[in-house]
Amino acid sequence: MRFTDLIIKKRDGHALTTEEINFWIKSYVQDEVPDYQVSALLMAIVFRGMNERETSDLTLAMMHSGDVIDLSDIEGIKVDKHSTGGVGDKTSMALMPMVAACGAKAAKMSGRGLGHTGGTLDKLESIEGFNCYLGKEDFIRQVNDIGLAIIGQTGNLVPADKKLYALRDVTGTVDSVPLIASSIMSKKLAAGSDAIMLDVKYGSGAFMKTKEDAVLLAKEMIKIGRALGRDVRAMITDMDMPLGRAIGNALEVKEAIATLKGKGPKDFTHLCMEGGTRMLIQAKIAVNEEEAREKLKEVIRNGAAFEKFKAMVRAQHGNTEQIDHPELLPKADTVTEMPCPEDGYIYRMDALGLGRLAMEIGAGRETKDDVIDPAAGIVLNFRKGDRVSQGETLARIHHNRPLTKAWRERFMGCIEICGSKPEEEPLIYKILQEASE
Ligand code: URA
Repeated sequence: MRFTDLIIKKRDGHALTTEEINFWIKSYVQDEVPDYQVSALLMAIVFRGMNERETSDLTLAMMHSGDVIDLSDIEGIKVDKHSTGGVGDKTSMALMPMVAACGAKAAKMSGRGLGHTGGTLDKLESIEGFNCYLGKEDFIRQVNDIGLAIIGQTGNLVPADKKLYALRDVTGTVDSVPLIASSIMSKKLAAGSDAIMLDVKYGSGAFMKTKEDAVLLAKEMIKIGRALGRDVRAMITDMDMPLGRAIGNALEVKEAIATLKGKGPKDFTHLCMEGGTRMLIQAKIAVNEEEAREKLKEVIRNGAAFEKFKAMVRAQHGNTEQIDHPELLPKADTVTEMPCPEDGYIYRMDALGLGRLAMEIGAGRETKDDVIDPAAGIVLNFRKGDRVSQGETLARIHHNRPLTKAWRERFMGCIEICGSKPEEEPLIYKILQEASE
């Protein structure tokens, strides 16, 4: 087989065979095809797309490019969640303990942040001593013992995605439904859970800019998972503005802790409750949404969800004093208040812009080698639709680096204020239980 023939075939709009896709992934992982040829094929896929069979073949080829984790030593249904990434997205840190406190086995492998989006591992590592890297046996033991673990990818999980994602990142080939679906699902399937709740985001801070594209991506991923016998469902959620109030690692841990205690922001709490409701049904812990919601409310009320998070931090060698007293989490030297320039309503809060600004003061990394400042970030005081008055504090910036004039101007450019109240957009556009919905 000649790799050039695959590129030409796809360039001309034809479907690749299963053998051709297997050949691509195997030879690329073994360094037998140069990046420039794979880039050309990726770009052809961006323009020409892939059919369902090709997307499923690509997912399987990637999934089998490395280890596939067997979680059958964990009793019961194992549940996982995955977000396509956004700004202020601390959902895993609240949602996973909530469902675990209700009795689900919550086993999650998370990633790091890159660009304007944050990563759960970076957030958890703002807790002193927290160890994200458990071996497979310890991961399984912890989920069996306390029902919850959130770790970084162990061993040699989907090496094909590591190489391909790095290449896509620098060749303008990230935005493609089959490429994103196969990248995410190969990792989720290799990580071994039985039931997966996807949070597919759309809007300025997300990969998918429109609801319609997010639904397309979600359906593709549900189909791939269902074909392999996994219970995959998806929430389609708004990422035009940041989720919750906090953007930045330690600040988001604090917000997740507040949410576990029933004192979180309304939008973020709603997302966790709705995702958790479906996950409890997936885990067969509740028979309907009403029962699931009651169980989730109860674990917040009685402190079990917070205790579950603390148990995970303890098991992964984190400092639980910081969980009991979040004021002990890393703190920035300076907190600068950003005043509101005029009276009116918050019309827009640009998630992408705010994510980038947070990254520039150290909350994220522009390149893989950048070092995160766990204390840095932004806490917004208002949400879209809120009434504001001139001089009120719009946000607090937590920083150890100086804020330049240009940074402040760009910050103000991210927040649009207008004279009339904007229409309210629901945070959750849809929850898909089936690809055919
Ligand atoms: N997240 C992934 O893991 N892969 C993609 O391609 C996009 C988002």
